[in-house]
Amino acid sequence: MTEIRVLSDEAQYRAHSTLFRRAMHWGPPTDEQWPVVLPSYEPGRVLAAYEGDEMVGTTQSFGGTMRVPGGAVVPHSAVSRVGVRADYTRRGVLSALMREQLSTTSEPVATLRASEGRIYGRFGYGLAGRVRFLRIDAKRAVIPGAPVGRVRMVDPDTSDKLLPELHTAFGLDRPGEISRWPGWWARAQDRKTSAENLVTVVHSGPDGDDGYVCYKVSEDKDFKHTMDIEDFAWANADAWRDLWIYLTRLDLIDTINVDAALDDPLSWLFEDPRVVYTKDVYDQIWLRLVDVPRMLAARTYSGTESVVIEVRDALLPANDGSYRISPDGAERVDAPADITIPVDLLGAVYLGDTRFSDLAAARRIEGSRFAEADALFAGPVAPLCSTFF
Ligand SMILES: CC(C)(COP(=O)(O)OP(=O)(O)OC[C@H]1O[C@@H](n2cnc3c(N)ncnc32)[C@H](O)[C@@H]1OP(=O)(O)O)[C@@H](O)C(=O)NCCC(=O)NCCS
Repeated sequence: MTEIRVLSDEAQYRAHSTLFRRAMHWGPPTDEQWPVVLPSYEPGRVLAAYEGDEMVGTTQSFGGTMRVPGGAVVPHSAVSRVGVRADYTRRGVLSALMREQLSTTSEPVATLRASEGRIYGRFGYGLAGRVRFLRIDAKRAVIPGAPVGRVRMVDPDTSDKLLPELHTAFGLDRPGEISRWPGWWARAQDRKTSAENLVTVVHSGPDGDDGYVCYKVSEDKDFKHTMDIEDFAWANADAWRDLWIYLTRLDLIDTINVDAALDDPLSWLFEDPRVVYTKDVYDQIWLRLVDVPRMLAARTYSGTESVVIEVRDALLPANDGSYRISPDGAERVDAPADITIPVDLLGAVYLGDTRFSDLAAARRIEGSRFAEADALFAGPVAPLCSTFF
């Protein structure tokens, strides 16, 4: 019989970390790594599955906020470190963990990154946002014109203090962007210390600091230099453009790798748009609407006509029911539905990455008036979550 416990002390957290890492085929945390990992264990948010006295499965979450279409932010749970001991898989351990986590979470929405695409749909998570992996040919990347602000290099102590403040102040505005938690920054700062060539530059404009980028450069045996962008945030388009001017005018660099939203306008910066090459498009945000009425009310809608959708949620039946979505908002109704949709697929359309009509074409949902529903949920920008967890 699987029992789920909430962990509360350091020895249990370390066993949790070891179990999760082993499930991912990694070694346990070393004594050197542990002080950096420990702050990411938030009391009350760390769950483990036990068979008798043996820990056999893990999950945890980090609390914060997420931006939804229309600009509001809502409380958000970032679910991570999901693992089941290899000798206990396919016996329902993850299912027990997910049931407990979902029924006890206080946030109306949870997201995660999935190691495999077939795991989380059954628990109500839908694929809600994708990311593009870009490669830029830096030698040919010419941005016409001069920068309008100033870019300065900052030392690690300054960036450790400044970046969390700037990230919060910028209030990144794409749907799906989340706030970061102290344990997240502790890990990022540790990576900075261990990668000695990680550089941070900060941009300032007329109103002060308004952008930053962290990057590192590696060199291969043929003296080819590749830059990997680790963290990049900006408050306005001038900061974004100036930082790209800085990056593409650095000496020696042949290639720049960066992750970007599907509709990122980056290629328009360059004289030759082909210097930006999409290496891959990958699924990024898996989203679970924990409190459907609250989340439907939290976002805004476009379009001109209303549609009634019937939501089905086997794990959280309080969400079951019909909702009228109109340009003025969402409300629970007792009315015949135009579209019937399971909660994982409502998660998939929630941030605007996927359309109802695509799901209908794939025979994943039933009903009518899909074009009207597409228009209601469509947004001006693609979702992105630039915080990896
Ligand atoms: C993925 C993982 C957590 C699943 O745990 P588990 O305890 O085996 O899952 P459950 O037994 O509760 O499975 C529930 C259902 O999901 C299915 N399932 C679970 N993992 C699956 C996977 N990787 N691919 C496809 N189906 C999967 C099971 O077959 C089962 O289906 P059923 O209800 O139709 O029988 C576990 O295999 C694991 O730790 N994998 C390695 C680490 C990892 O990938 N973690 C996820 C990080 S995001």
